[in-house]
Amino acid sequence: MTPGRILLTQAQIRARVRQLGKSITRHYRGQRPVFLGVMNGALFFLADLLRAMDLETEISCVQLTSYAGTQSTGQLAGLADLDALGESIAGRHVLIVDDILDTGRTLSALTARLKKLGAADIKICVLLEKRRQHEIPVKADWTGFKIADEFVVGYGLDFKGRYRGLKQVRVLENAV
Ligand code: IMP
Ligand code: MG
Repeated sequence: MTPGRILLTQAQIRARVRQLGKSITRHYRGQRPVFLGVMNGALFFLADLLRAMDLETEISCVQLTSYAGTQSTGQLAGLADLDALGESIAGRHVLIVDDILDTGRTLSALTARLKKLGAADIKICVLLEKRRQHEIPVKADWTGFKIADEFVVGYGLDFKGRYRGLKQVRVLENAV
């Protein structure tokens, strides 16, 4: 069964990712940034974004988890694994690619850790940003879509591990 109402169609996502790719390409022209994907949510977005760009990049991934079901737990697991990337981050221009900016906890903690590892520059690209006030002020440099404060799934986003593979972004109502 496919859940929820469609918020963003495949065509809308594709068109927006293409625009983001162009803008990011322009910004980093002549450089070789590190694209750091936040797994698992950024899986499709990262892959589509990379293919929408005309740029030499390096690709890294980090697996971070803060959600249990539809609630942010406030606990962020997986940050320590970043330290293994230390060498490849020091002195580099890093673009964090994530699925969604919600409370801001994930991206602020990740940014702080990357600074510690000596990144020369850190920018953030998210597919989605919830319009509500972030608990921790984080600004994305590129945002695909601003959305209402609803729980969404698909195109990488999950509910308890499900629905990541949906081709659209859908609003999951009555999620338990
Ligand atoms: P933050 O730390 O609260 O900003 O949350 C960021 C992370 O929580 C995202 O990278 C997602 O993995 C997850 N998340 C936040 N909102 C949603 C949602 O509506 N659907 C699925 N995952 C979400
Ligand atoms: Mg995530």
